[in-house]
Amino acid sequence: MYTNNLLDHFTNPRNAGIISDANGIGTIGDPDCGDFIRIYIRVRNDRLEDVSFEVCGCPAAIATTSILTELARGKTINEAMAIDENDVLKAIGELPQAKVHCSNLGPAALKQAILYYLQNKKSSENS
Ligand code: FES
Repeated sequence: MYTNNLLDHFTNPRNAGIISDANGIGTIGDPDCGDFIRIYIRVRNDRLEDVSFEVCGCPAAIATTSILTELARGKTINEAMAIDENDVLKAIGELPQAKVHCSNLGPAALKQAILYYLQNKKSSENS
């Protein structure tokens, strides 16, 4: 079943909520009709100085996204882009096989948030 670490992050999620001055947002899933994860990042000097999340999903999705935000916080953009589901699984310990796909959602949303940030940065540099 679930590890104590997973249960801890499920019952006491870290970095949950919105970053009001986020400069990157990424969403995986559909907030209007199903499970979704939204990641907020605030990047300064090429580093993710803050990371938070909103989630509508199962306990595994909540816990693995909580862990993901801890892994990503303070990382450079390149380091954060490299975080994948294996890093999340390693940090959380074991996950039931049927729930492994839930750990893919957070890293995918984080990559979307970073791409959003990079695209906006490029647009503002070109204008
Ligand atoms: Fe849908 Fe885990 S997020 S089953």
